[in-house]
Amino acid sequence: MAETLLLGKGSRAEKYKVLLPQIESLMEGETDCVANLANVAAAIRQTFDFFWVGFYLVKADMLVLGPFQGDIACTRIQKGQGVCGTAWEKKRSILVPDVEEFEGHIACSSLSQSELVVPILKKGKVVAVLDIDSASKDDFTKTDQQYLEKLALILEDLF
Ligand code: SME
Repeated sequence: MAETLLLGKGSRAEKYKVLLPQIESLMEGETDCVANLANVAAAIRQTFDFFWVGFYLVKADMLVLGPFQGDIACTRIQKGQGVCGTAWEKKRSILVPDVEEFEGHIACSSLSQSELVVPILKKGKVVAVLDIDSASKDDFTKTDQQYLEKLALILEDLF
């Protein structure tokens, strides 16, 4: 396991190019899902300094708060509720440039301004979602969405 995270320099794309292989090596040799998700959340936050980075895990008919980095957050989200529950229901990532414009957005913190949620699928079923919040509006682009969707494919093996 890498003991320190190498931070990529330059554009977001450049940073993701450094981050994704590091996440893979970080998880090498560790089989525990929670331990790995905790380090993934930390690695993303360390790289980009986003306001909140974490996972909600599908447990029965709810999303339940999993490993995260950031302020305290709501613990349970129903299918179809908020950005996370909608990403779960629609089985696709959702980029929200301005959370105030997303009907039903769940405001765990008033500091969150934009959000990106990427589901993790295993055999066609959503098993978790990766949720990232930024304190700036319009902080996420297709670049973030594409790289984090790649990451979701890597994380599928943990479930
Ligand atoms: N905003 C999310 C809720 C989770 S928090 O952002 C950590 C949503 O609307 O689903």
